Order: sequence, then structure tokens, then C-alpha cells
Amino acid sequence: MQSVLFRKLVDEIPSTTYATHGLYMYPAKFIPQVVRYVINRYSASGSWLFDPFAGYGTVAIEASLTGRNCILWDLNPMLHLLAEASTYAEPLTLGDLHVDFNYPEPFHPKWANIAYWHPREFYEVLSRAWGFWRRGVDRRLKPVVAIPLLKVTRYFSYSDEKIAKLYRSKRAEEKVRRMLNADWKGRMERMYWDYAREVVEKVRDYQKRKPRKVEVEVEASDEKVFTDKHAIVDSIKRKLEREVDTMITSPPYLQAQEYIRSFKLELAWLGFSGDFIANLLKHEIPYNNVREGYISSKTYETLKKEVEKLKHEKLLELYTSYFNSIALLLNNNHEKITSTIAFFVGPVKIRNMRIPIDVIIKEHLEHLGWKHEVTLIDTIVSRRLFKAEVNPATRLADERTPTEHLLIMRRGP
Ligand SMILES: C[S@@+](CC[C@H](N)C(=O)[O-])C[C@H]1O[C@@H](n2cnc3c(N)ncnc32)[C@H](O)[C@@H]1O
Repeated sequence: MQSVLFRKLVDEIPSTTYATHGLYMYPAKFIPQVVRYVINRYSASGSWLFDPFAGYGTVAIEASLTGRNCILWDLNPMLHLLAEASTYAEPLTLGDLHVDFNYPEPFHPKWANIAYWHPREFYEVLSRAWGFWRRGVDRRLKPVVAIPLLKVTRYFSYSDEKIAKLYRSKRAEEKVRRMLNADWKGRMERMYWDYAREVVEKVRDYQKRKPRKVEVEVEASDEKVFTDKHAIVDSIKRKLEREVDTMITSPPYLQAQEYIRSFKLELAWLGFSGDFIANLLKHEIPYNNVREGYISSKTYETLKKEVEKLKHEKLLELYTSYFNSIALLLNNNHEKITSTIAFFVGPVKIRNMRIPIDVIIKEHLEHLGWKHEVTLIDTIVSRRLFKAEVNPATRLADERTPTEHLLIMRRGP
């Protein structure tokens, strides 16, 4: 274990949101410094990176800025839009982001719940703007135009902007009431242009950093919105078709985030049907009900006994589904990875028990023939960890503060 400061891992990155890293919110995304560190240290120019849980597409930005190719997979269809917008390589002006909020052909989401999320007045204008996005915006520009439009859509809704999950709160209802009593339509359009300006600035900042022409292969679920495919991309069932040099990924957190639920409103306005979204939910780790039999780790087995003692079936199911999903992905794909596997994992507890995801993955990869290179842990956090109590049942430190670990494994000789 080695202590570092993740934010200071590399000198050349000025902030976590530089270039196009902060175009849109994405819960628990990588900080770019971690990805850049792995790229600099473990991959050569022109090589292939692979992220099977690519989320926002942080790896695509860092890959193109450093001249690496990449393959990105994710269950969440948002990846198509986010990866494309954040690696936009054409000249971009504010005028390119024009949206007609009075467009005569409105778009109505194919999702029965939509009326719960917007008052009728906002809904009518938004549906015209989204009608324009579908028919009036050039295919190439659709991802960049969608960013400010989604931000406005989310703001002009009952969803609480302070909470990443889609959640209708009293505070948000109050905000909507106040807006309805003022010039909300003017405000909506002004807000759109403010966000549009921000997008243009960020895209230009990205372009200023001289991204190379690299291959970015995106495989994310789709319902013929971004591509001509109707497909659910479940990474644990897929197999790489080509060799890659380095896998760098951050899997979902056990028990924390429900990604598809968080993005329901966005997905509905982009044109995904309620049925398709409901189908995606069933594949999300760790709610995907994967059975035992894929993971090989002593720590996994020891902790499973502790989780069983809690006599809470749902927790046990999450625990087994989570690790067996990750193991299945590795079993299916590790042979196609020629050099390095880097896992960035966050803090996880079941009740008060710390679950050392990195240790469990390390043991499983050792079983598959990989060698442990190093585990990096943030210094600020590790200082606190030093003071933590040891849980007599698990012999693991009971942390009061979250920790983040970067596990690096190399192919054995
Ligand atoms: C921690 S996030 C990854 C964030 C990413 N590293 C970034 O920088 O944006 C985990 C991702 O796993 C995805 N995911 C969950 N279950 C999945 C599955 N069965 N197949 C593919 N992706 C899945 C979620 O949609 C989410 O984007």
C-alpha cells in the first residue's frame, strides 16, 4: 500500500473539471488525474485502453488528449452523448447551439411518469425545444446541444437539483411555484444560453489542448436514439473482440448509486421509452441478481460469512451479485488484456463492516494469474485510517472516513 494524493498524482492537470470533464454531472466519476497517471505510467502512445464501466467517458477525454485509443462500455445510454460531446473535435460557435423553444412539432416522451416531473406549463415549452432537438439539430451537433438542454430540463422540473438521484422534494416544488409566478419562459431561454456558453468554453478548452485523432469505440445501451441499434449493453455478458493493453475502470459502488434511476428524466427526454428504461434497471450492478460461482477470493468468503450473520437476505444478495458480476467481467475478458489492469474503487460498508473491494478483486486476479503491482491510497484519508479502530469480527479497520484505492495489477511473466 502506498500513500499518495490523487489530485497531485500528475502535474500537468490543472483541475478535476478542466477541458470537458465537467460538462454534465455524473455521480462518482473518475478524477482525471487518476486516469492520466495510469496512462502515463502504464501505457504507450497509440496503445488501446478499455473501460467496461465508462460512465461519463472520462477515459475517452484523457485517451484523446494523450494519443491512446479506447473501448468504452456502459449500461447507461448517456455514455453515447457524454463521450461524444466531451471529445467534440469540430469548430464550435454559440450559434451552433441554437434551439427553437417555440418549435411547432413538440416531442412527447414515451414515459407515463413524465407529468409527475414537470408542471404543465414547463412541459409544453420543453416538449417544443426537444421536438426541435430531434428534427432541427444536425446529427453531429446533437450531443453538444443536448447538454445545456438537459440542464435546463432538469432545472425546470420538480427534481431536487441538490440531489444526484432523481428525487421530487418540497424544496423543488417550492422553487417551481416561485418560477411560475415570474417570467419563467424568459428565464428558461436565458439559462439555456448561459449553459450553452459554458459548453462552448469547455469544448474550446479541450480543443486548445490539442487532442489527437484516436479511435473511441463506444458500446452503450441504445434504442435507436444515438445509433441505429436497439441493444442493452451489459458489460458482464460481453467479450472484447480485440486485444487491449490496459484496462482502467471504476466499477459501480456496492449499494450506493442507482445510475439508471438517476438519469430517468434525461433518458425520457432524449427519446428512450419507459419500457426500455425499466429493462435497463434489471441489468444494473449490484441489483442484477447474479448468482455465486465466479469469484475466487478468500477475503470474499470470510466476509460473506459475516454478511450471512446479519440475516438480511437483500444485503447478502447485493454482496454476492456485486462481486460475482465483477468476476464474470474479468473472467470473460482478462485474457484479451495484455499488460495492466487498474481498478479505482471507493468506500464501501455493509452496516459497519468495511468491504475491501480492492483486496477481493486483487485476490481474484491473482487467481487468474495476474501480479499485484501496487495499491495507492489517498494520503489525507490514510492518515485518518491509521487512527481507525479495528473491528474484532472482521479484523479490518472500521473507517470513519471514506477511502479511495487505486489497485494496479500487471500480467504475470
Ligand atoms: C462509478 S461509475 C463509472 C464512472 C466512470 N469511471 C466515469 O469516470 O464517469 C460505474 C458505471 O457502471 C455502470 N454499470 C452498472 N452496471 C453495469 C452493467 N451491468 N454493465 C455495464 N455498465 C454498468 C453504471 O451505469 C455507471 O456508469
